[in-house]
Amino acid sequence: MSLLLEQLVLTQSQLFLKDVIEGLRLDQKELSSKYFYDAEGDLLFQQIMASEDYYLTRCEEDIFRNKTSELTLAITNRGTLFDLIELGAGDGSKTLFLLKELIDQGEDFDFFPIDISKNILEILGQNLQESLPELSFHLTEGDYFEALREIVTASHKRKVVLFLGSNIGNMSPGESLEFCRHLSDLLSPGDLVIMGFDLRKNPATILRAYSDREGITSKFNLNLLRRINRELGGDFNLSQFEHYQSYDPISGACKSYLVSLSDQKVTIGDQIILFKENEPIYMEVSQKFSPEEIDALAVNSGFSVIANWYDSKKWFVDAIWEVQ
Ligand code: TRP
Repeated sequence: MSLLLEQLVLTQSQLFLKDVIEGLRLDQKELSSKYFYDAEGDLLFQQIMASEDYYLTRCEEDIFRNKTSELTLAITNRGTLFDLIELGAGDGSKTLFLLKELIDQGEDFDFFPIDISKNILEILGQNLQESLPELSFHLTEGDYFEALREIVTASHKRKVVLFLGSNIGNMSPGESLEFCRHLSDLLSPGDLVIMGFDLRKNPATILRAYSDREGITSKFNLNLLRRINRELGGDFNLSQFEHYQSYDPISGACKSYLVSLSDQKVTIGDQIILFKENEPIYMEVSQKFSPEEIDALAVNSGFSVIANWYDSKKWFVDAIWEVQ
């Protein structure tokens, strides 16, 4: 390994350690969900997406499968060349419908998938090469805005940015507003964003999606403790933590926690963290939205709403917004 690469790797794991220790030293303990996605986490997440109780992926796939021509037209009807960018592309299964249609129509564009998981990007790269050999794509690992800034600087074509899977819901309402403002600042007037939102619906349906009967979401959350054990020299006893999910139909916040089942001491490197019985670690929010909340988010962050596409159950929406 080159010295530079070694320094980079060191910095990443030091950053992971710093985030973990800082989060677990708070009065209300928390862990950052951006560390969910190691190779095992990616695999578990793919199982979540395929599970019966997790409806989000199927709903958004319904939109990408059945509204492909409307989506494509909204992107291409400006007539000018564009770059297609996807934030948090994952395995790209939904985006493939759109990519295929754009290629079938003879559109000349480049695809820039960005993800924090190097592992899932490699899987995506293989998928794309096999299913769409004509597609020109550039995999980018890392921070969304850093990557986006580079792409925006490198080419002056207009931009179309995808942010699917209700990943916007994994931010607090304040953070998502800031995120959308940052996005519109970085882009230029006329650029487009296609964003997926999980809608408010029967609370029991939502809760079940994140407390699935197969227990995959529980494994997915616990896997972060396993990752800390492996990568940061931790000694979490996974059987002493339990996944707990809540949904508040008033705020629309669906939150996941890991609850300590006993008074216990956990060592991470040379740091000691104490847990009380029943003490929660806050893991992540999956915010649910009303159509009005989505429109307000667009307008308050410098976009105008072009169209909204719903799945057949009206459980999920992909919104297309234009930078003002
Ligand atoms: N953004 C999606 C959601 O909120 C996917 C996701 C992120 C997720 N973290 C998760 C799904 C944790 C289940 C559990 O649903």
